[in-house]
Amino acid sequence: TETLSYIRGQAKQCFPADALSATGNSPLAAPSNHDHDTLVLIDQTRLPADFVTVECGTVEQVFDAIVRLVVRGAPAIGIAAGYGVCLARDADGNRSPMAYLEAIDRLAGSRPTAVNLFWALERMRTVVESVGAGDGLHHRLVAEAIAIHDEDRQMCKAMGRHGASLLSECESVMTHCNAGGLAASMWGTALAPIYHLHQSGHTLNVFADETRPLLQGARLTAWELSQAGIPVTVLTDSMAGSLLRTGRIDAAIVGADRIAANGDVANKIGTYPLAVLASYHNVPFYVAAPSSTFDPKLASGDLIPIEQRHRDEVARPYGVPLVPDAAKVINPAFDVTPAELVTALISERGVVRHPNREKLAKHFEQA
Ligand code: MRU
Repeated sequence: TETLSYIRGQAKQCFPADALSATGNSPLAAPSNHDHDTLVLIDQTRLPADFVTVECGTVEQVFDAIVRLVVRGAPAIGIAAGYGVCLARDADGNRSPMAYLEAIDRLAGSRPTAVNLFWALERMRTVVESVGAGDGLHHRLVAEAIAIHDEDRQMCKAMGRHGASLLSECESVMTHCNAGGLAASMWGTALAPIYHLHQSGHTLNVFADETRPLLQGARLTAWELSQAGIPVTVLTDSMAGSLLRTGRIDAAIVGADRIAANGDVANKIGTYPLAVLASYHNVPFYVAAPSSTFDPKLASGDLIPIEQRHRDEVARPYGVPLVPDAAKVINPAFDVTPAELVTALISERGVVRHPNREKLAKHFEQA
């Protein structure tokens, strides 16, 4: 009874999982197709007004779903891409190593920042290259996609446990964007400690930045926390400073799309100013991310590719013209928070206080 996304035939477990199923939100229809050729996604562009699903039967449909943010959030993108590769067919409608490799290349072009996408696709590529042509390849790929998904669930659970130790004395926490079950599997990353504590009887008050321009905080974080019975208050991004100044916020916790070797963190645009404000007000700033978000190949956050999105997301939200055509718009989807502003990083392996290159290398050794 988990919810977000799955290949039919494996639908007993789909995400965002327990976070929603615990709330009685209805699970998706029972699986009917044992050929693993449909990926069903909650359409996150329609939440919170409509809870509807999108069925992807082709790689192109999964690509489109990732680009349009039907499915979004670093771990969720990786999981969806893993399943997406399994849908590949060549021009004659046959499954072949070449079709899978083309799917991997295509999906790698969907969004540039979250490294989980490339991490998952490399795992799929390794399967294609090691198994080669033959009857077993499709099933090996499906098994790998399911393993990616299952491992994410375990990582989310572990982050919940580790992060809970940091938040156990808190009453109110702030978050940015959506790093919950909709963005990953199960409990998500930054929201995992909040769900963990809630399950053990300690319910935090969550203050969610609305998260301009696409409102993942207002639409998604507020939605999934309310479904779980966790009190959530939405603020506009520009209110964060004055709220922190009141002293009512005990900690800020966010997810990540990519963490460089030195601990710099790329996350949703607006994370960096939140980290600066938290530091100024002596509020701990925590980042929760699984090892699949760590990119040791990049020495610092300056090297993280930042996705630039269409001007209309800012200039014409929901089709409403807000910016004159003559005005330019900038719309980077992510920013980079320097490691020195991160009080602690929470991964499935534990907690790294004041992360830096040496500590992270040790923490993620053999990751
Ligand atoms: O553009 P989005 O909605 O995919 O951005 C998502 C975020 O920035 C999340 O905070 C991040 O992926 C962590 S999700 C567990």
